[in-house]
Amino acid sequence: MSISSTISHATSWAEIDGAALRSNVDQFRRIVGDRVLLAVVKANAYGHGSELVSREALAAGADWLGVFAIREGLALRASGIEAPILVLGPPMGDVSGALSAGLRLTVSSLNAAQEVAKVGLKGARLHLKLETGTNRQGLLGHELGEAASILSSSGAIVEGACTHFADIEDTTDHDFAQKQLARFEERLEELRSLGNSVPLPHAACSAATILFPSTHFAMVRVGISLYGLWPSRETFVSARTLGRAAISLRPALTWKTRIAQIKKLGVGEYVGYGRTYRATHQTRIAVLPIGYADGYDRGLSSGAHVLVRGVRAPVRGRICMNMTLVDVTDIPQAQDGDEVVLLGDQGEEKITAEDLARLAGTINYEIVARISPDLPRVLV
Ligand SMILES: Cc1ncc(COP(=O)(O)O)c(C=O)c1O
Repeated sequence: MSISSTISHATSWAEIDGAALRSNVDQFRRIVGDRVLLAVVKANAYGHGSELVSREALAAGADWLGVFAIREGLALRASGIEAPILVLGPPMGDVSGALSAGLRLTVSSLNAAQEVAKVGLKGARLHLKLETGTNRQGLLGHELGEAASILSSSGAIVEGACTHFADIEDTTDHDFAQKQLARFEERLEELRSLGNSVPLPHAACSAATILFPSTHFAMVRVGISLYGLWPSRETFVSARTLGRAAISLRPALTWKTRIAQIKKLGVGEYVGYGRTYRATHQTRIAVLPIGYADGYDRGLSSGAHVLVRGVRAPVRGRICMNMTLVDVTDIPQAQDGDEVVLLGDQGEEKITAEDLARLAGTINYEIVARISPDLPRVLV
């Protein structure tokens, strides 16, 4: 289906700006030089569309892809993507299929090491996750030697060792991240002293990659900022303070829908479930075919704006499962079929993932990652 027919058949869709994605990949390539640049494309590429983003990111110069689950990696392989893929989450599901498809697996417990070793594909490339203080995934210091020997004796190669920072984006105080970094370096040394060469150590997410060259090691795993979003306000401030402000990120996603219908309300009439909004004047309400089931958070009820004809239109009343009602009284030209921007730019106006996150009480990551995978993504 062509892009225009995909859009004309959809009630809502996301447009992905290929030039913005490429520019973001370029920025990280400049920062990390010839280190391996892994594009994190888990969670449907943070809602941007995993296959589409994977192809664009690789074409723009990313070297590896990172997914959470084996099934995500296998889906990328099935779509014909041959680049190295690292499964960042626990090796659950079709481990044998994953290794046969050449997926790299992350091993973060002795049980997982045994399970992967049972499948025992000679030459399988594995990455050991080392505990440094996040306490989410990670082998403890005394488990490292045993995990490495279980895997090596099954014929696997311990290609990588990695960790993930607990508190690098939520703060401008990076003491804890520095402690984790020091712990990672110690554990890596221990692993190497046991005879594992571990050619690919890695630790850095977007914030670490931007802020601290000492976290780059042989590979970085960049997610949110490849999509043009800052990990947080604190990371932005830290980048300024540390003199890393030269990086300029371009958000890649615009989320759109269309007006399904316009209704005229008289003074005193109510809008939507729970009658939480009541018109104080003659009001024109546009009905949008988008709701919380599509990822447009219910917490945005009576708070968010959308863009119609380049003008901000406030959401009135509660967001429904599949519909949202917005006030277009002050946009008299608005009519059925008009394109509406939920997230992104239109004319001079802009709605950012951070705006929506603030209103919904969450972070920009969640706003984009929860855009329903059922909605089409089109590359523009
Ligand atoms: C293990 C791991 N590495 C890297 C990333 C990428 O982080 P960011 O999106 O902040 O760049 C994530 C994201 O959650 C992750 O879980």
